[in-house]
Amino acid sequence: MEKITIRSLFRKKREGKKITMISTYDYLSAKLCQEVGIDCILVGDSLGMVFQGLESTLPVTLEEMIYHTKAVRRGAKDSFVVVDMPFMSYQVSLEEAIKNCGRVIKETGANAVKLEGGEEIAELVYRLVNIGIPVVGHVGFTPQSVNVLGGYRVVGKGEEAQRVKRDFKALEEAGAFMIVLESMPKDLAKEITQSSKAITIGIGAGPYCDGQVLVFYDLVGLVEDIKPKFVKKYLEGARLLREALKTFKEEVEGGIFPSEEESYG
Ligand code: KIV
Repeated sequence: MEKITIRSLFRKKREGKKITMISTYDYLSAKLCQEVGIDCILVGDSLGMVFQGLESTLPVTLEEMIYHTKAVRRGAKDSFVVVDMPFMSYQVSLEEAIKNCGRVIKETGANAVKLEGGEEIAELVYRLVNIGIPVVGHVGFTPQSVNVLGGYRVVGKGEEAQRVKRDFKALEEAGAFMIVLESMPKDLAKEITQSSKAITIGIGAGPYCDGQVLVFYDLVGLVEDIKPKFVKKYLEGARLLREALKTFKEEVEGGIFPSEEESYG
């Protein structure tokens, strides 16, 4: 696979070719993504919920993001790797935010950082881009603001659409080269994408974005307890794994495993 860069991603947008992104947190899944030519890997702070079993992404730490991104980078040397900056790693002050974003890029080898928010982070986005750190924005439903938004929901219906558009514009003007649109009406995402210089990546934002992102563990059917409308399961992963584990248990208990084949002479 040829190395994915901001230039090759913009070429795809210009040529009307869809961009693919997977949110994942480990070496093996990242390696699979790269093998099949997924353009971008997001080390999402959804790892708090999916990998750690937390109720939200809020407790995820900078150290955890760095740990997982290093593993992903080892598995996908040529993909474009984006790291989610966790809650409170970029909200306290500009200085601390820049230091944390710089640390993530230096220590992980990731290509860009992702920040949730709009107008309130525009100055930070501008500063990061000027320093040389590519920024991916994230508007619509922003999980780090779940408590302010009043739970997991579609954002941008009715009057709320104006705020989403303002936030998007602020990020675009500040220099974010890519912006994730999460859980919003598809026509709003279409309108935003049609007039956007930045690349739009949708999740629960309909088919008109420049690209789409799904969480690996949702896509392969390992997450069973939550099933948002926008998730498509491409594999019955949990069922298949359960069957494999059951068979292992039965074979050990029945003296079938290990056989001669799995034993040393
Ligand atoms: O944390 C994450 O995985 C994300 C994507 C779902 C966009 O932010």
